[in-house]
Amino acid sequence: MSSVHRLLLRHPRGETPIFLGAGALRVAGELLADWVRDRTLFVVTTPRVLALHGGALAPCREAAACTVVLEVEEGEAAKTLERAGELWRRMLAAGGRRDSRLVAFGGGSVGDLGGFVAGCFLRGIAVAQLPTTLLAQVDASIGGKTAVDLPAAKNAVGLFHHPELVVGDTSLLATLPAEEVRSGLAEVLKMGVIADPALVGKVEATLERLLAADPQALAPVVLAAAAAKVRLVAADPEERGGDRRLLNFGHTLGHALETAAGYRGLRHGEAVAYGMLFALRLARRRGFDAALAARLAALLSRFGLPPLPPLVADEVLAAVARDKKASEAGPVWILPRALGEAGAVAEVAAAEVAELLAPFLAAPFAAG
Ligand SMILES: NC(=O)c1ccc[n+]([C@@H]2O[C@H](COP(=O)([O-])OP(=O)(O)OC[C@H]3O[C@@H](n4cnc5c(N)ncnc54)[C@H](O)[C@@H]3O)[C@@H](O)[C@H]2O)c1
Ligand SMILES: [Zn+2]
Repeated sequence: MSSVHRLLLRHPRGETPIFLGAGALRVAGELLADWVRDRTLFVVTTPRVLALHGGALAPCREAAACTVVLEVEEGEAAKTLERAGELWRRMLAAGGRRDSRLVAFGGGSVGDLGGFVAGCFLRGIAVAQLPTTLLAQVDASIGGKTAVDLPAAKNAVGLFHHPELVVGDTSLLATLPAEEVRSGLAEVLKMGVIADPALVGKVEATLERLLAADPQALAPVVLAAAAAKVRLVAADPEERGGDRRLLNFGHTLGHALETAAGYRGLRHGEAVAYGMLFALRLARRRGFDAALAARLAALLSRFGLPPLPPLVADEVLAAVARDKKASEAGPVWILPRALGEAGAVAEVAAAEVAELLAPFLAAPFAAG
């Protein structure tokens, strides 16, 4: 039996097939080759991914009329308007047309930047997401959100631009550094808490093997998390007040931590892990499931997260206030009431966040 699974995401612009599993790039190879055949192919990627896994793109490159590889910085540093502008200029100079193709081959940073660049170039060219990190395979590549950061706010400029195809080949995760695996597992856990209780149990039971990127432990967890993301996005494709908002569990504070840290020194999943811990404090204060909060804090303490970088509480608070999900009424907080039960979108007074934040930053694992 093939270990590659096929999911389908239906959205207002059509549907996106998602191939996921060990060997997915091989299984979807012909489809990808047909998709780029005789066209100009732009590949957005990073030097590390290109060096480690560039060979997997050979069938694609052979089918394309010509391939232009656009290498960008590793990690979040690539998600800037400056980098997007440079890529647009290079694409135009290389003869890019409206029917050219772009593939984003890398982690969520490359996916967000590549999707954004494709979504705006000549008012939009088709993109395929080929995610190479755990985080991108279970979360970032699915659902059509693209963005770059501004210094004052994460993901502040972006658009929905659904990929025509997503191919997450889990065999590429073998080269992923342990910290990146852990970062992805934070989003996996998020997905479990908001949408799949059994997934939380699986993470609890196999955490050590998951952290070690054991392919057998990862396979069911990747599939379950990606399937949960597909369900949530399909139910509320453009986040208009429905279930898709739940995906922001851990992100209201998480994004603010990343922004206050200058997008350095804190991976996205690490920031989300700390953000979930903080949201659980808010949930506990509201009398939500206290046992759940304790259970998740215990699980997150086993992740071996690096300590938070030194952050100024006021700068974090200012970033929370600028969160792009904030409405006039203030930031949106997703606080789980119970495992897998639709989380509450709570109004939380800025004063309460301010009161809790400094002690949290000093001791995030304390039972605050
Ligand atoms: N669009 C969405 O819906 C969505 C959802 C979740 C997260 N995101 C975004 O995703 C980004 C984080 O993505 P990420 O965690 O994938 O990190 P990342 O893209 O920053 O990648 C981390 C590092 O791992 C390297 N790498 C990638 N694949 C590798 C492999 N197979 N082997 C070895 N090294 C590899 C990358 O080159 C990079 O240096 C954040 O910007 C976050 O905001 C977007
Ligand atoms: Zn995230």
